[in-house]
Amino acid sequence: MKRLLLMIAATVGLVACGEGFTASERDVIHASGDGIMRVLSIADPTDSLLLRKESLPVSEQMLRSEEYALLRERMLQTVQNPEAVGVGIAAPQVGVRRNIIAVQRFDKEGEPFEFFINPEIVEFIGEKEAGGEGCLSVPEIRGDVERWQTIRLRYRDEQFVEREELVEGFTAVIFQHELDHLDGKLFIDYL
Ligand code: NI
Repeated sequence: MKRLLLMIAATVGLVACGEGFTASERDVIHASGDGIMRVLSIADPTDSLLLRKESLPVSEQMLRSEEYALLRERMLQTVQNPEAVGVGIAAPQVGVRRNIIAVQRFDKEGEPFEFFINPEIVEFIGEKEAGGEGCLSVPEIRGDVERWQTIRLRYRDEQFVEREELVEGFTAVIFQHELDHLDGKLFIDYL
């Protein structure tokens, strides 16, 4: 009996402090197959509330899960949807409130999309400059936003190794826009 109770306690403990994606996150990641995901929009009141929440840290266990691989693939398909192409996307935009962003690296050969886990900007460098922005979650609005031209980014790569990088120009602007999503901020807040 004591052993059984211990087993139950261990199982409950595992569930309570389990660091994988939650059941509802897994539902969202698997929702309606494996293609383009629904992008949350401020035009929808429920979506709007979700877009305004802060996202949560990603664990190594999440990163190594089947769900992350699927989420990664689906976010990539979503940001490259021919009907609404973006240059970056944050996981909360597809309903997964985790610190994951994909950014198109215009500062790299071939301009690939790359994923950044638990990213933060640790230094803003130089000057701010105004530039036009839009957002997949904010239909039909574009506007000029002032952003730093150079940032120092700290993040985990997809092997969960901590890295730091200096990013400049338009790519730095995309990082600032996507990182705002993780704080529940939208570019229209600056207009
Ligand atoms: Ni956006």
